[in-house]
Amino acid sequence: MGLNYYHIKKNVLRARKLVIKSTSLAGSGHPGGSFSMAEILGCLFYKFLKFDPKNPSWEDRDRLVLSKGHAAPGLFSNMAVAGYFPESEMESLRKFGSKLQGHPDLKCPGVEFCGGSLGTGLSYSIGIALAAKIDTKDHHVYTIIGDGESDEGQIWEAAMTASKYKLDNLTAFLDRNFIQQDSYTEQVMPLDEELTGNNISEMWKDASRWKTGDKWRSFGWNVIEIDGHRIEQIELAITKARATKGVPTIIISRTVKGKSIEHMEDNPQWHGKAPDLDIVPLINLELDSQFMIAPSIIAGDMTNLANEVKRCASGRADYIHLDVMDGKFVPTKTFDHSKIKELRPLTVIPFDSHLMIAEPVKHVRDYAEAGSDIITVHAEVCDDSSFGEIHDYLKQNQVGVGLAINPDTDIPEWSYKFLPTIDQLIVMSVVPGKSGQKYIPETHEKMNKITSILQEQKFTGYIEADGGVNLENIESCFEDGARAFVGGSAIIGKPDVRESIRDFRNQILKARRKTLIKKAHQLGGAELVNKWIGLHVVGEKKDQLAKIAKEEKLI
Ligand code: DX5
Ligand code: ZN
Repeated sequence: MGLNYYHIKKNVLRARKLVIKSTSLAGSGHPGGSFSMAEILGCLFYKFLKFDPKNPSWEDRDRLVLSKGHAAPGLFSNMAVAGYFPESEMESLRKFGSKLQGHPDLKCPGVEFCGGSLGTGLSYSIGIALAAKIDTKDHHVYTIIGDGESDEGQIWEAAMTASKYKLDNLTAFLDRNFIQQDSYTEQVMPLDEELTGNNISEMWKDASRWKTGDKWRSFGWNVIEIDGHRIEQIELAITKARATKGVPTIIISRTVKGKSIEHMEDNPQWHGKAPDLDIVPLINLELDSQFMIAPSIIAGDMTNLANEVKRCASGRADYIHLDVMDGKFVPTKTFDHSKIKELRPLTVIPFDSHLMIAEPVKHVRDYAEAGSDIITVHAEVCDDSSFGEIHDYLKQNQVGVGLAINPDTDIPEWSYKFLPTIDQLIVMSVVPGKSGQKYIPETHEKMNKITSILQEQKFTGYIEADGGVNLENIESCFEDGARAFVGGSAIIGKPDVRESIRDFRNQILKARRKTLIKKAHQLGGAELVNKWIGLHVVGEKKDQLAKIAKEEKLI
């Protein structure tokens, strides 16, 4: 039923950490291109691909061809997470005799194609797809090609061939990260428009300069263009590709090389370089500090919630917070599952349904069926048994599970056993009932206690800060451990949602940078702080970090 959003997200994070671990131990490898395709692989492995890790050559499996073979650490790490081999085996990456070489090799069971020689994977995939047609098999072939790789003429020969043979059982992803080994793709061989200078954000800003889709369309392909880091967009694109008959599909995925690690992002240096071992703990902390912004639509025009959802979508919200109030658990009434069902077709952005209702166990199905991606229920109206029922039902239906606690509620002991598998804990920082209230300052203190319980109980989900979160307190909410941030009046209540989300994001980034610099200082003094700052060569990040380090008297 659901998107399985949290499950995919968690596994993508695990895989990214394995990429960092294995390449840093090997002292070489390609983290940049592994990270640009991380969410694509996540959606494939944990939602779409048919495979059996215990029987890698199962005939009816779907085929995944990594044509941009240098991103092998990204493939191997997902194979490890998916159970093909133990995660510890990633430590043998690029070692003599290991099955995990610098490029994918058939000696690793489950690998479909010896990638590395760029330009050839799509042709190979055409062979598999044609064979499947001849044998009347219904497995699907997914192929990931790179944009640097698209310089090869063979890619375009393959493009013609796949459309000639109407290979609708073939879906290609173009990992469009704009960077190849030597430089920016638009300087080496433009796929879109030629780029002058080093500012690739120029290409992002101006979609009229994107020509790649036109090229593929002219070769007879079904073209879908997406943000390749948005799980919900990838999911929809694959679903559409699978439903398209008579032509192959290419999903042009705009991605960021080195995505998730600020100093690697959009930096050509990280195409083929491994991080030093001394910065690995900092990278892991950065990976653990990914965050999401969730506007709460009840802070807008309640008579036109469809418009509020559209504002969230054009403002690029990570997900949309839906405050359901029933007039019983809280005095106010907002809307119920029927409204959520009505809003669902407006966007693919995940719906974060916060149920402030009595007896959630009786209604949780309705909210799942209405299209929620995560459902959070209040601890005050649950117990071990009813929450257990909710938890199991949501997990079975691939919907995220959340638990919420009011300002005067502690995490109940009955919930401890669920904490390792809960996706989100909402810590209310106002008494629930309406938006626009003031953040209760005691929440900061409470968060200290909460985070140590969560650590002890092996919670791996997101803490969501909800109620009165604004630009003044969001940094401290981040420092307290929150990683999802609801913004009612401070986002939806403002005229320009996109700008408010951007401001939220920038404030959180500032807090995150400070946390990372402090960690660097703790681990290696001013020397490591300077080294960390020095890695941030793209844009103005270096100056911003140096400013924080000076303010904190760490250099
Ligand atoms: C409170 C709700 C919150 C609230 C957020 O009962 O759960 O989500 O509406 O709005 P602000 O950010 O204005 O407090
Ligand atoms: Zn809420």
